[in-house]
Order: sequence, then C-alpha cells, then structure tokens
Amino acid sequence: MTTLTSTPPISPLLVPRPYQVVDKIEESGDIFSLHVVPVEGELPEFRPAQVSMLGAFGVGEAAISISSATTTTDFHAYTVRDAGPITHALVNTEVGGVITVRGPFGRPWPINEIDTNQLVIIGGGLGIAPLRAAVDEVVDHLYRFDRFAFVYGAKTPSDLVYSDDIERWNSSGAEVSLIVDAGDGDWTGPVGVVPDLLGGDAGDHGANLDWSDTTAFICGPDIMMHFSAAKLLGLGVPSHKIWITLERNMQCGNALCGHCQLGPVIICRDGPVANYADIGPFHQVRDL
Ligand SMILES: Cc1cc2nc3c(=O)[nH]c(=O)nc-3n(C[C@H](O)[C@H](O)[C@H](O)COP(=O)(O)OP(=O)(O)OC[C@H]3O[C@@H](n4cnc5c(N)ncnc54)[C@H](O)[C@@H]3O)c2cc1C
Ligand code: FES
Repeated sequence: MTTLTSTPPISPLLVPRPYQVVDKIEESGDIFSLHVVPVEGELPEFRPAQVSMLGAFGVGEAAISISSATTTTDFHAYTVRDAGPITHALVNTEVGGVITVRGPFGRPWPINEIDTNQLVIIGGGLGIAPLRAAVDEVVDHLYRFDRFAFVYGAKTPSDLVYSDDIERWNSSGAEVSLIVDAGDGDWTGPVGVVPDLLGGDAGDHGANLDWSDTTAFICGPDIMMHFSAAKLLGLGVPSHKIWITLERNMQCGNALCGHCQLGPVIICRDGPVANYADIGPFHQVRDL
C-alpha cells in the first residue's frame, strides 16, 4: 500500500482571496463596475483581457474580466452584468463588503506582438470590458500605431458603457465609431450592427483602415465576433491577424475540470484570447 507522505502543492489560483469592494459605479441599468482591493497583501499585476473567478459567499463563482487600466495600481475594476444568481449577488455587494477573487489568469491580447502599422479594436455590448485596458494602453502611447480605430456597438444608446473613456479616447486621436441596434430621440449616429461600421459602407461613421496592414481585436457576443471576423476577412485582413475572446462556462479556472473546453482549446488555460486562424473552425454560430 502506498503511504501519502506529502500533499501535492496547491496552485495559488485555486485559493480564493478576500477582496473588499471600495467603490461601485452604475454603468447602465443592470451593469455595475466593482472596484476592489485585497483585504491583505498586494494587488497582483495583470495584462488586458485577463480574468478572475469572482466569488459571492454562499452563492458561487463566475469568471469576470478585469476592466481597469493596467496603470491603475490602487484597485482592480470588474464590470458585471446582473445576469444570474452569482452576478446578481456580486452587483448587490455594498461598498465595504467582501467578495473573493481567484486570479488573474488567462492569455491576454497580444498587444506587444503586433507587427502591423494599424490596429482596430472592436467591442460589442459588455465585450468592451476586457478591451478597455488595451485601448487605454494604445491611447496612452504605450504602443504606437499609424492609425488606431475603436469600433463599438450596443443594443441602445444607454447600453453604451464607459462614455467618459470613449470621449477621452476620441479626443486623444483614436478613430471612434459607435453604432446601436435601435436609436432613441437623441441618437444621431448610425443604427445597425457592428460589422456595418467596418469598411467604407458607413462612410464617415465607420472605420476604413489599410486592412492588409491591420491587426484586429474583437470581443462581444459570439454572433457579433463571427460576423465581424467574416467582414474583416472579406476586407483583406489575414485570419492570423484577427484575435477574438472566447467565453464559456468556467468552474476551476485552472485547466482541471474541462468545463471551458472548446474544440482543442481549454479556454481558462489557452484563452480567453484566441487567434482566429486557430479557433475560427470551432467558433461556429447557428445560421440565422
Ligand atoms: C473569459 C470570460 C470573461 C467574462 N467576463 C465577464 C465580465 O467581464 N462581466 C460579466 O458580467 N460577465 C462576464 N463573463 C460571463 C459570466 O462569467 C457568466 O455570465 C456567468 O455565468 C454568470 O454567472 P451567473 O450565476 O450570474 O449567471 P448564470 O446563471 O450562469 O446565467 C448567465 C447568463 O447565461 C444565461 N444562461 C445560463 N445558462 C444557460 C444555458 N444553459 N444556455 C443558454 N444560456 C444560459 C442566463 O440566461 C444568463 O443570461 C465572462 C465569462 C468568461 C468565460
Ligand atoms: S474552467 Fe476548469 S478547465 Fe477551464
């Protein structure tokens, strides 16, 4: 009989750390940003698009992207939509309350590996959350491009979050294009879906770059990423220059349980950011 003389080491990623909520911002009706700090110890470093498992005591854990800038060192922000039991408990945590955090983990946007002169960052809905830190790095000139376009769509004007940041990015030289599925009385911009803004179809309202010299980061609902990538491919962006984020149910966040598998990819280990040349064949959406 084998005697167990020592226990295997436990990955720190499997141990929840208590974090205190130090601020809570209402971004739109059901979307809130929680600013959190560890109850003990330092904030860990992270790269844009990395995620953590956020835990609400007695309810469970959900994967949530870090949405603050990498240069913000006094808290981490997580922008959460009240979508089900866990996110409901998280957004209802009051300032001063405590949640748990395991992370950050995952593959970030490959922003320091880009070899094109132009970059387009494309967000749909709450998909803007894991893009915000990447846009900030470009706008703050940590990485330089001849042209940088930010394209973002949401269901209605009031669903377009981070409006202060978008205004700042626009006045700092980013070519910003916005679109909504349905406008309201005050909306003067285009109405439609995100891919409508790519290429010359939307005129001055859209992004028209030198597509053969462009890298693209896309995050949003699967259907929006699918059709945005298809549009970019048609415009001449090579598939290996297109990066998307993958979102599937996560449990362990540590490549142990298999819940987040998509084709050959274990998203918590190999993603959430994935190259379209690799993942495109597995990233199918149903025909409409
Ligand atoms: C890499 C990654 C990053 C993420 N980043 C964020 C983020 O920044 N902010 C954020 O708010 N969320 C984010 N999510 C999503 C979040 O982790 C999930 O929505 C999580 O399931 C919420 O848990 P819940 O208990 O609150 O809701 P759940 O009960 O899990 O429900 C969440 C939503 O999914 C729907 N749903 C549940 N089960 C099914 C099913 N079987 N079939 C179809 N639909 C179903 C529900 O109707 C609801 O709309 C991220 C997920 C991943 C994988
Ligand atoms: S969440 Fe368990 S393997 Fe990815």
